[in-house]
Amino acid sequence: MAAVDATPPLPPLTAGGVPLAELPEYSRHQLALRNGQDRDEVWVAYQGLIYDVTRSRLWKRGNHYEHWAGQDLTRELQHDAPHTEHVFDRFTVIGRLQLPPPSTT
Ligand code: HEM
Repeated sequence: MAAVDATPPLPPLTAGGVPLAELPEYSRHQLALRNGQDRDEVWVAYQGLIYDVTRSRLWKRGNHYEHWAGQDLTRELQHDAPHTEHVFDRFTVIGRLQLPPPSTT
């Protein structure tokens, strides 16, 4: 029997050339541990992707103009920030944010 060669569409790549789909998935709880307070790592989620902004002096100790790292800041970037998402261009995507389980109510 001939194998069906259903080549999937190429996934978008991260800056490091890693397909997004192959990045590790982190839960909101794991993300929350990277708020720059409990550990040195400073991570921020934006549109389902997690960026490592540890080396930014503008995110020292996880704080950035009244915003805290360790969480999904998609809404905040779109509504409060004086800049666009291009501020993430020089940072590495290190993972994907796990979706919350579907609500049963
Ligand atoms: C009151 C809201 C905010 C203010 C006043 C603010 C202000 C700034 C300023 C002045 C810069 C540096 C210059 C520039 O690139 O425009 C910056 C960079 C940056 N911002 Fe914001 N920001 C805000 C909210 C946010 C939010 C919600 C996020 C995340 C989702 C964010 C992520 C970043 C990142 C990743 C950088 C680049 C840091 C670097 O290059 O070291 N900002 N922000």
